[in-house]
Amino acid sequence: MTKTYSILLDPFITKTKMLKPQLHHHHSNSIQPLPTRQHNALLAGDGNTCGGDSGSAACFLSLNKLSLPIKRNGFHAARPSRQIKAIAADKSIATTTTNVKAIITVQITMGGLISSIGLTKGLDDITDLLGKSLLLELVAAEVDHRTGLAKDTIQHYAHRSGIDLKDVKYVAEFEVPEDFGQIGAILIENEHHKEMYLEKIELEGFSNDTITINPNSWVHSKFDNPEKRIFFTNKSYLPSQTPSGLKDLREKDLASLRGDGVPEGPRKKHDRIYDYDVYNDLGDPDRKPELARPVLGTKEFPYPRRCKTGRPRTKSDPLSESRSGGIYVPRDEAFSELKNMTFSARTLYSLMHAVIPSIQTSMIDQELPFPHFTSIDCLYRDGLHMPQLESKGFLRTALPRLLKSIEDTQHNILRFETPAILHKDKFSWIKDEELCRQTLAGLHPCAIQAVKEWPLKSQLDPDVYGPPESAITKELVEEVIGGIIPIEEALKQKKLFIIDYHDILLPYVNKVREIKDMRTTLYGSRLLMFLTPYGTLRPVAIELVRPPGDGKPQWKQAFTPRWDSTGAWLWKLAKVHFLAHDTGIHQLVSHWVRTHACTEPYIIASNRQLSAMHPIYRLLHPHFRYTMEINALARESLINCAGIIESSFSPGKYSIELSSVAYGQLWRFDKEALPEDLIRRGMAEEDPNSPYGLKLAIKDYPYANDGLILWDAIKTWVTDYVTHYYPEPNLITSDHELQSWWTEIRTVGHADKKDEPWWPNLQTPQDLIKILTTIIWVTSGHHASVNFGQYDYGGYVPGRPTIARVKMPCEDPTDETWERFKHKPEKELLATFPSQLQASQIMSVLDVLSNHSPDEEYIGEKMEPSFEENLKIKAAYEIFAGKLKELEGIIDGRNADERLRNRNGVGIPPYQLLKPVSKPGVTGMGVPNSISI
Ligand SMILES: [Fe+2]
Repeated sequence: MTKTYSILLDPFITKTKMLKPQLHHHHSNSIQPLPTRQHNALLAGDGNTCGGDSGSAACFLSLNKLSLPIKRNGFHAARPSRQIKAIAADKSIATTTTNVKAIITVQITMGGLISSIGLTKGLDDITDLLGKSLLLELVAAEVDHRTGLAKDTIQHYAHRSGIDLKDVKYVAEFEVPEDFGQIGAILIENEHHKEMYLEKIELEGFSNDTITINPNSWVHSKFDNPEKRIFFTNKSYLPSQTPSGLKDLREKDLASLRGDGVPEGPRKKHDRIYDYDVYNDLGDPDRKPELARPVLGTKEFPYPRRCKTGRPRTKSDPLSESRSGGIYVPRDEAFSELKNMTFSARTLYSLMHAVIPSIQTSMIDQELPFPHFTSIDCLYRDGLHMPQLESKGFLRTALPRLLKSIEDTQHNILRFETPAILHKDKFSWIKDEELCRQTLAGLHPCAIQAVKEWPLKSQLDPDVYGPPESAITKELVEEVIGGIIPIEEALKQKKLFIIDYHDILLPYVNKVREIKDMRTTLYGSRLLMFLTPYGTLRPVAIELVRPPGDGKPQWKQAFTPRWDSTGAWLWKLAKVHFLAHDTGIHQLVSHWVRTHACTEPYIIASNRQLSAMHPIYRLLHPHFRYTMEINALARESLINCAGIIESSFSPGKYSIELSSVAYGQLWRFDKEALPEDLIRRGMAEEDPNSPYGLKLAIKDYPYANDGLILWDAIKTWVTDYVTHYYPEPNLITSDHELQSWWTEIRTVGHADKKDEPWWPNLQTPQDLIKILTTIIWVTSGHHASVNFGQYDYGGYVPGRPTIARVKMPCEDPTDETWERFKHKPEKELLATFPSQLQASQIMSVLDVLSNHSPDEEYIGEKMEPSFEENLKIKAAYEIFAGKLKELEGIIDGRNADERLRNRNGVGIPPYQLLKPVSKPGVTGMGVPNSISI
């Protein structure tokens, strides 16, 4: 039954242009006397006031335009269940309202196809035509000051208003009463059957300005999950400063992200739940018993936590998670469609699932070494003929650098680009000076240490591993650097440097040598170097050690650059072994564990404990983009059992286990800060008179020189940001979200290290600045410096082999093996290198991993909307961006300076890995905000 009520409104006291004198209501059953206060014009039929001061006029005015006031019932705002049943009785009740237009931008990410945003034809089109595509609710920032209760929200359906190649626009119109106050959030329900990617919401019509909210988020269909999505405005608040009307929403949004109350079980694609789990999904014991792998994240094998996927356990091992199905990441952690289409997820996936197996089938003998050096060069010139590939059209688009086709013959060719290092100097791989230069300016510049103690000695148990004394003796060192300086003086003057993998690798030597289905070997190893008067390093010795085992005693030998042919060839081979170890530690420890794996708990904790409106969440958010997804892909295809890492790196199936040992022994949060890392390695000491308060042990140390400028710029920016939001130290201790965040990182995300005494406290703004600067440095500068040179340096196998497959010819040689070596040493070298299969697989992967996506976000480039809204923060960010621009010029200047021999010289590629911005592709420069590949 429909009744019509009249209202009396003085047109002169309303600002609303669309006010109509009559409203049509349904099911009215009573008219209450009107309250005397102005604006309290309407009462709901159930006798409750319709939003008090805030909601009155909106109740009926918006109803006229399908805007319905909703009594907020906690997080699950109720559907419009009641109707307006009262009317205004005198002029005094009239209120001023503002027409507010909400324009919602839904992204069409590729090709302008509606289907690409997940809208399905049929039902969803009808939903759009009916104008009921998205249900929006405006939430007042403050509660009703009289009642202390949340004001009613104002609800409206949005209708589709336009579509172009890039996006679809939806529009909703609201009439917002003046006393509604500031908008604090918008609740959104997606009425379609498929999810939508919501890019932006603009609220136009307010006198001061347009309010913009930037969700950049997938909004699930209400049919998948009835929970409405909450999007806060861009203003940031500490928990204690949360506007009264948003407190509940703040809590409930976090509870939803933690998955509170959600039953155990596999997470669904549209879920947004962040939770922790151990690395128990790398093995596949149900497929083959030998594919079982230990759980990482235990006392024996400590590891950072990863995102919980909820997949069932395996049948064979109740501690392992089954590898069935895809790997869940919370919905907004997934790659954008642009990144997916052009790069990475699909590229890496296609590489792993189509190209790599195809390389495998194209090679009859998978252990086959390169027959001669020129056959390595052929990979860049002629390429590898590939069997027919399914969907090769797509593959060619996804891997344009790698896959070329010969149109006439329908054959595919996997042809590699010439890596930068080879392009510059074909002989760089064999040069001793280049071996050393790369420890300061190459792909792995964070392993070198100053020698602090002499003699070199192992800390391992001599009963198990043999005598701990190094074969690199004082006499040997003095023989090599003889006449220049006595060793004591060299130590005092910090002229000896080392990369020492002895103790981390030695316990794995015998295990690795026992691996049956893979040709590989291992040694404990160290490289000792001497700083020349030119500021460059020269190698002194490489030591290779085999522990006792299998009835044989310990074997060790120090190899030095030699002037006799046999010695010179053994030196070359020792370098190959050392480089294989360095490549492994680079990939497994400095790259994977220290950046990718260690960052994942920060992301999980930030989403679980810091509200989306928390300023620290907003500061960190750009630095977490895509990391969980790339880590999931790594678990799926790179670091899994029998995956590319296991099958191509010296430690074989122990590779990832080894990364756990390194994490357990070496990783400390406080030493991940660049200055502390340099000090720990003896590469710098504190000095107030030096730039950034650090005196470097090697002046021309490009990674440290450029890195410290970047570190300092990040630190200044973080300092400005933190001191703005935390002007008083007690605000840090009283911020319960922040405290829970840090506690969770320490005790859950890095649970195996929870009792370590070195975790920084979080009591003062200074503590927070250090913690945040460290996290941001790891995700930006550290990661970029070890990631984006992978193909440039590793794309030529002799320069950075991932594996050394045969032992040194001088280790327990037989007459036959020694003669073979003497007869054709090049063959020995080629047999030590990765096989043709391993090389081409690794080169393909390194090529993809060195690539910048077209949608890459570089540090200091794009200002977050929430930074922009706060003038102080905006100014601080602009200064930050300016410093990074300067850094670019400084790096160019340094690379042009011939005095800096570690980054400028004949055949030397410039050191550009910490140059902030890059074009897309494999460029060997560019520091993205986050670890996205
Ligand atoms: Fe990476």
